[in-house]
Amino acid sequence: MKTELLSATAAGIDRAAELLKKGELIGMPTETVYGLAADACNPEAVANIFAAKGRPADNPLIVHIADVEMLSEFAEDIPDMAYRLAEKFWPGPLTMILKKKSCIPMITSGGLDTVGIRMPNHEAALMLIKKSGLPIAAPSGNISGYPSPTKSSHMMRDMNGKIAAIIDGGECSVGVESTVISFENCNTVRILRPGGVTREDLLEVVDNVFIDPAILHELQEGQVVRSPGMKYKHYSPKAHIIMVEGEYSEFCNYVNAHTKEGVYALIFDNDNKNEINVVAFNYGGDSIQQAHNIFSRLREMDSLNADTVYVRAPKADGVGLAVYNRLIRAAGFEVIQV
Ligand code: TXA
Ligand code: MG
Repeated sequence: MKTELLSATAAGIDRAAELLKKGELIGMPTETVYGLAADACNPEAVANIFAAKGRPADNPLIVHIADVEMLSEFAEDIPDMAYRLAEKFWPGPLTMILKKKSCIPMITSGGLDTVGIRMPNHEAALMLIKKSGLPIAAPSGNISGYPSPTKSSHMMRDMNGKIAAIIDGGECSVGVESTVISFENCNTVRILRPGGVTREDLLEVVDNVFIDPAILHELQEGQVVRSPGMKYKHYSPKAHIIMVEGEYSEFCNYVNAHTKEGVYALIFDNDNKNEINVVAFNYGGDSIQQAHNIFSRLREMDSLNADTVYVRAPKADGVGLAVYNRLIRAAGFEVIQV
């Protein structure tokens, strides 16, 4: 199959909508990362998503909608709080886990009776949902386990020849996937995956926000798995990623003591490259920039055939919690304190 690269124009999106209605897969830009899109209610199309990514069948897909009215078409028993959150954060990087209606096939929800729903804040994605008239199931468009795509070229690398088309919507603005939440009771939510909508943002609308322990710590045997995605190795390039946490001078001492061929470093924008003896790349000066750049940088490390990459640990507050969570998983929880 030849994968078409479509422009994010009316003509390109018409073509993508037509393909989606025929059950084909499309690379879809969103503000977070590119998604691998299919008709959420077509079980054969959804099965092809799992096959193209090599994704475990028990890991559910997020369903994307284009207006709040669509929420009650696919979910039921929706708490009031969900509507208040939708009003504040949609379109945007927030996915809400709700009880699913039977029109969402079990293959889409990974066998669960719940479904994650979000309204993306990207014109091309919203137009694609409206023009196709379909709810769109879309996991991140990477091969399972690899860093998520934030440019159409990343998606082409992973999906060329496997899917009908990719819409080129430019670089994703946020750069890490959406915040995934579940509802604990009438005034409490739980963050299952941190993203562009932060704990502090959520507290403007709800009274309590729990952070699931699996966000920062490896799952222990017997621990409750509230989101199947927590179980799997994620976001990892081929290179061995090691997170090093501490002041920049200590970071340099550590890396300089471990210098050999194939070793690289990812550091902050203001860190002085003259202090470090390996090739180093900046990945941002604050959490917003780090979120925007991190996946692209991890992919670049593979283009350079890096063996080992020491990453200076980001600050883990605000959107930084999402960056920290992606990196600690890319590193397989290998963190060195200096
Ligand atoms: O920003 C995003 O969310 C992107 C773009 C394309 O929208 N999508 C995305 O999808 O990141 P994916 O499939 O790569 O990650 C979805 C995560 C997985 O960890 C999955 O386990 C969790 O959300 N999830 C989805 N539905 C769920 C459900 N019903 N219950 C618990 N966790 C769920
Ligand atoms: Mg993903």
